[in-house]
Amino acid sequence: MTAASAPGKIILFGEHAVVSGVSALGGAIDLRARVRLEDTPGKTSIEARDLTLQGFRLDLITGQIVSADAMRATRYVSSVLKEYGARDITVKVDSDLPLAAGLGSSAAIVVATLAALNEHMDLGLSRIDVASQAYKIEKAVQQGLGSPMDTALATYGGYLQVSRDISPLDLPQLDMAVGSTKQPHDTRCEVERVQGLLAQHPDIVGPIFQAIGAISSKAVALLRDMRLEELGELMNVNHGLLEAVGVGTKELSELVYAARAGEALGAKITGAGGGGCMIALPSSEGSTRLIAALKQAGGRAFLVKTGCEGVRVVRDR
Ligand code: PMV
Repeated sequence: MTAASAPGKIILFGEHAVVSGVSALGGAIDLRARVRLEDTPGKTSIEARDLTLQGFRLDLITGQIVSADAMRATRYVSSVLKEYGARDITVKVDSDLPLAAGLGSSAAIVVATLAALNEHMDLGLSRIDVASQAYKIEKAVQQGLGSPMDTALATYGGYLQVSRDISPLDLPQLDMAVGSTKQPHDTRCEVERVQGLLAQHPDIVGPIFQAIGAISSKAVALLRDMRLEELGELMNVNHGLLEAVGVGTKELSELVYAARAGEALGAKITGAGGGGCMIALPSSEGSTRLIAALKQAGGRAFLVKTGCEGVRVVRDR
């Protein structure tokens, strides 16, 4: 048996602007996808379980699918297996991360599966290979859509600054509340809409992106020095700029304003918007109140730590 786990992620600052090469800051979180591989001669199958789904099973030989959602999670696993010609194994996937919520669940599943397979089949992949192959596989499954940030954070953990390049940052862990609208979002659609707005009004949206990039860069020093009130202020400004480019929704706004009324130091959309999740920075004493405020406003809410460990592999010979 070989097991691996990989973290999900949040984008602290810079979503959408990063698509145009402006700096963004992301952090790995302490919610993980876990994968176990077992040799099962004559049988190749995937079993998956997720917070948002009932358990389901897909048999790759018979093609039997018990739940339509099975296709979604297992597509990533089966693509990894196919890429390396893996057969006669059973892959069990268990994830803390809701799907299609902008928390990097698919990247975590791909990275954990690939890292486990690397160990199980002695593929000889380095961490850099795991990150780059996982990015390639996730992007192929999503028909060309994918950010290297998600697979890099799932592989290396910690924090990453992303612009045209990806650089690791040594920054302290942070408590963050995540509020999910429970509505899946469509990253491709949101990115196309925002890029369309940029093409139509480069003189207006360009400076908005520059301002978002300046926030992401400034946030690094604030986080290093744990100047949390200022960090919260910048989250609020970043949220306003995301609203300005049209990725807000009523449900996201309700959670953001509930968080601020619940004494968060700052709150913003995380990820592509149009549904999915927001994040809020709790004050030192206020996380219980903050989570209650988010739930009261209709969200699913949980606390995470950011800057957590990347992929981890265990082999039980
Ligand atoms: O799909 P999400 O919610 O993890 O975030 C996408 C982030 C964007 O900046 C909007 C797109 C990208 O590729 O960076």
